Amino acid sequence: MVGAASAEATAGASAQATGGHGANGKVGTSEAGAEGHARIESLLARMTLREKAGQMTQVTIHSLCDPGMDPKGPAVLDMGRLRHAVAEVGVGSVFNVAGRPLDFGEWRALLEEIQHVAVNESRLGIPIVFGLDAVHGSGYTKGATLFPHNLGLAATFRPELARAASRITAQELAACGVPWNFSPVLDVGREPRWSRFVETFGEDVHLAKRMGAAAVLGHQDVVGVAACAKHFLGYSAPATGRDRTTAWIPEGLLRDIYLPPFKAAVEAGVETVMVNSGDINGEPVHASRALLTDLLKVELGFKGVVVTDWEDVIKLHLIHRVAPSVRDAVRMAVLAGIDMSMTPHEFGFADHVVSLVEAGEVPLSRVDDAVRRILRLKEGLGLFEAPLPSVELPPDRERIRVSREAAAASLVLLENRDAVLPLRPETTVAIVGPGCDSAPVLSGPWSYSWQGDNPADYPKDAETIVSAWDKVVGDRRAPESADVIVLCLAEKPTVEKPGDIDDLGLNDEQQEFARGMLALGKPVIAVLLFDRPRVLEDWTRDCAAVIWAGRPGPFGAGALVDLLLGTFNPCGKLPFTYPRSTGEVIPYDHRLPDRLGKSYGARPDYAFDGWRPRWRFGAGLSYTSFRVEALSVSAGREGVKASVTLFNAGDRTGREVVQAYVRDHFASVAPRVERLAAFQSVELEPGRRIVIDLDLDDRVIGFHGRDGFVLEKGMFSVRVGDTAVDFELFQNMKRFSEWVDPSFIVS
Ligand code: BGC
Repeated sequence: MVGAASAEATAGASAQATGGHGANGKVGTSEAGAEGHARIESLLARMTLREKAGQMTQVTIHSLCDPGMDPKGPAVLDMGRLRHAVAEVGVGSVFNVAGRPLDFGEWRALLEEIQHVAVNESRLGIPIVFGLDAVHGSGYTKGATLFPHNLGLAATFRPELARAASRITAQELAACGVPWNFSPVLDVGREPRWSRFVETFGEDVHLAKRMGAAAVLGHQDVVGVAACAKHFLGYSAPATGRDRTTAWIPEGLLRDIYLPPFKAAVEAGVETVMVNSGDINGEPVHASRALLTDLLKVELGFKGVVVTDWEDVIKLHLIHRVAPSVRDAVRMAVLAGIDMSMTPHEFGFADHVVSLVEAGEVPLSRVDDAVRRILRLKEGLGLFEAPLPSVELPPDRERIRVSREAAAASLVLLENRDAVLPLRPETTVAIVGPGCDSAPVLSGPWSYSWQGDNPADYPKDAETIVSAWDKVVGDRRAPESADVIVLCLAEKPTVEKPGDIDDLGLNDEQQEFARGMLALGKPVIAVLLFDRPRVLEDWTRDCAAVIWAGRPGPFGAGALVDLLLGTFNPCGKLPFTYPRSTGEVIPYDHRLPDRLGKSYGARPDYAFDGWRPRWRFGAGLSYTSFRVEALSVSAGREGVKASVTLFNAGDRTGREVVQAYVRDHFASVAPRVERLAAFQSVELEPGRRIVIDLDLDDRVIGFHGRDGFVLEKGMFSVRVGDTAVDFELFQNMKRFSEWVDPSFIVS
């Protein structure tokens, strides 16, 4: 069977083969082992309150460095500051990069120095846990492998690639001595204005859940490296579109869309969770006991460490204004359920924890719970035995192969009029536009620096689209004399607050440039190198081809050249809805009233033509053509299963993503028009057929209504491509396990 879970399972099998501990040995959760458990309890019994408060404190490495160090040079530790933070305050964690990115050896040497002080000079010898943002590969490490951002991985619809990319990232972190990655981002990307859209797995919950869980498992494949699911919860839905602002999310939406990827990550054994810096319905998440304790720790059963985001405890006082003082902010956050505070420059948090416990305002048991979780993380990572993880890196060529395969698979061919692509061998080409000769536009943010926008930070031999073209073809023309123009439009990489935008439209300058190129009267192939779908005016209608590239990573240029030349057959699918206009930002899984057109129509023929995305979720062309045949569905005790035959009706091998969408015809809460319930990517030779069995995600067939999650009886349809079949559920169910009447209908 080519079932929904098989790709992830296959990736798991190869992980075992590479020496990983996979699902057998989740780190940092509950399985510390008898010896580990004894060590944790013995430490807790011996720790002073001040030492416990220290463990709950996390500072940036800048706090340990010489303030006079060259910000463009390598980090230079200041022994006095290092001893104060690590041995006297006894911080539990240090994170981040100071100065330029380090190579593998420099990272290890730096972390050895820090751990040496922690282990030998602190009273109890507890190692720190060092964290880093390796959000698409270890971007702060010279010589490490960068991958497409999560949005690009999502476009592959191949969880096994997300797992492989995370595994390599974790291996490279371990080689640096870094045991903790602040990744993956599991925020569902439904607000394209948001500056971190590219870090998400796109707008669909089933896709985000599958890709996110695979990313967590990829970290667990490597002994001694923990992942961090972030940012719990609702961070990606700011009503203003701006980073770290208010989200309005009703309970049903929260549970149907934003929670499931985190639930999947907890089920996969994620060791740590980072909190959303914003607020939901006015309640800052860092102060929400309902979300951090009742939902995450109790309902989902999360046993790991909840870490704050950057300075977010202090911000409860300074920005959110729910705490009249910093001390109140610390009390609120600790009582809400945070275990570690990314302060990140100061140690006042620890002082406040001590004073709050002494005054009886925070129970010691809450502090003990937080510290137990932190020590369990350290124990699970093996830091007490070896304060630095280590691993044998896979050969360079294997790491490059995965990154290159992921880059190629992430490219989405959205238009290909008159089969302009692949280019004929005799075609002469001009490559133009702001993205044509830039390495940063390929890799995007979190590459060698936070914003990733400085070309000087990139390796000297980093490829650009023109350099990759020159390597393979070597001949380029001026637009006026070429047969075809490749127009590389690009957004400057940005992220977080610096990435806030006031207009989803692409800037006028680039749109003018595009029109100028089209005015030359030649086929124009537009390549979109963006962090999010920037709205393009109607000139795209006149383009011969359009390729969504997003941020494919350093091998994206070579992959794009292969796609243009036809040595690679495109297979990526858009993991979000590309809006046609800035005012029509409507996800594909909207409700029917959202698409009622202006003409409105008359009963019973209401006009539902009010939704006209530029490109649809799941869209993506190939150089071959696929046909879906023989779709059938059955609903029974084991859930809803679909079966479909895929036929490669074209003349070359290609990869297709079979996408099964479910529609609930009538429900007690207005149903969404359709939702992705299963997908499978398969490669098929021309003239071949394959039968694909899919388990449909019951959490997507049902929804959260007034009485919690329910699968309501009634008629449903499953659609794959342009065929659909109906099925019926005969009674309401909480889960399929409650199924009593095994009747089913197949049509
Ligand atoms: C970001 C997090 C990141 C943290 C540490 C914050 O500003 O929101 O995603 O992990 O910084 O660098």
